[in-house]
Amino acid sequence: MNKNIKQDYQKKIDELKKHNKFYYENSSPVISDKEYDKLKRQILDLEKEHIYLKSNFSPSKNVGFKPSKNFAKYKHREKMLSLSNAFDEEDLINFEKKIFNFLNEKAYLNYSVEPKIDGISASLTYKNGDLIYGVSRGDGKEGEIITENLKTIKDIPHKVRNSNFPKDIEIRGEVYINKDDFQKIKENFANPRNAASGSLRQKDSKETSKIPLKFIAYTFGFISENKFKNQSDFLKELKSWGFLTSEHNEVIKSINELVYFHQQFEKKRFDLKYDIDGLVYKVNNIQLQRRLGFTSNAPRWAIAHKFSADHAYSEILNIDIQVGRTGALTPVAKVKPVNIGGVVVSNATLHNEDEILRKDIRIGDTVKIERAGDVIPHVLEVDLKKRKEKLSKFIFPTKCPSCGSKTEKEYNKITKKFDAVRRCINESFACEKIAIERIKHFISKDAINIDGLGKKGCRKILGFKFYKISSRYIQFELSKNILP
Ligand code: IVH
Repeated sequence: MNKNIKQDYQKKIDELKKHNKFYYENSSPVISDKEYDKLKRQILDLEKEHIYLKSNFSPSKNVGFKPSKNFAKYKHREKMLSLSNAFDEEDLINFEKKIFNFLNEKAYLNYSVEPKIDGISASLTYKNGDLIYGVSRGDGKEGEIITENLKTIKDIPHKVRNSNFPKDIEIRGEVYINKDDFQKIKENFANPRNAASGSLRQKDSKETSKIPLKFIAYTFGFISENKFKNQSDFLKELKSWGFLTSEHNEVIKSINELVYFHQQFEKKRFDLKYDIDGLVYKVNNIQLQRRLGFTSNAPRWAIAHKFSADHAYSEILNIDIQVGRTGALTPVAKVKPVNIGGVVVSNATLHNEDEILRKDIRIGDTVKIERAGDVIPHVLEVDLKKRKEKLSKFIFPTKCPSCGSKTEKEYNKITKKFDAVRRCINESFACEKIAIERIKHFISKDAINIDGLGKKGCRKILGFKFYKISSRYIQFELSKNILP
């Protein structure tokens, strides 16, 4: 047994435990979803390669995190498991192959296709139509009793009186926040899912009720009588019983069609009222689901087809022109907010005038945005198929939007070409925006690095005063604020 490998494995497990705590217990992750998934993947790869590596905290054994001590616990009568992920067609073909192998026949499969809502799952126990318990997922085996908090959500019925409602049932679904509502509270949370998770786990349900949480139902756990042939029939019943279900649920018959549906859906995801991070495909026939059963942490009959974590589509609402320290005019697309790998993006750079021309980017276009690593999100391309009629070409301003001066593109004598970047030719302090950016740069980490005063803090100090005053006054105010 290699000691280094074991140490490396244990280090990764400890790291994962730490991040699980940040995510599930404190509801405030410190790394991105992508980094978290990478860590999980590394652990699973190590286990695959070195079969002697084992831990009770391995992601192959665990979903979620042990319930917090703040709430009483509830043992789920049917485990609340996770879903395996697919990223491309090949993964889906393999998923179906495994189903055929397990069944030992090539069955004709229909899939119930549902958006994978990026929220927090919850389980609601109804006995004789009354909501008795509302529980979080916890570690999948035991959850936290958060009934009072869940009862503050208007989409959750407290009583169901339909004659065909099972006598004893755990209804499961996702608690989430609509994107519009998130915009109003976004200062306090990284993304809508954290907001949902944080508010659900408040000790006082009055706090929960202040956040406009929603609940979409999509499956059942324990069920006393199951008369439903298909998942799609169950979804229809959920609606008739008064639960909110997704308006985007579909039944689809082949992998080819699933892939096509996914491609189309990815392009309209930004227009949905809530965040989704993929689509869930479930074998529609419930009897087949029963036969297929579960592996240790996921059903064999369902898979999540994720959207990319580094790009997404959105619509350009406007194009702002920003003036930089060197006078460069940088066009920035204001887009409908879209979640890319756990970060809500509403601005994407268009680089410069030439890029806009070359890609023929127009306000109102649907565009593909990339956000990879720490790089500023940028517009990759226009989806021309989605272009609405009569969108006018974007006219790049020839005057500086800050000071109104002339702008120029420098001529490069060597390449015999004009520079791609247009610049304001007004000298520094005479153009307010250039002045602000220069001073921001001067005090920032990249220059004299005033301790504790980053670009953000600097913006706070400069903020409101700048727009009205002259250049001398700027310097005076600055020194008064910064120097002791
Ligand atoms: S079914 C046993 N359907 O995704 C399978 N899950 O990664 C139970 N989710 O824990 C899940 N939308 O929180 C299912 N339409 C949907 C879903 C969905 C979102 C979440 C859920 C689950 C996680 C799995």
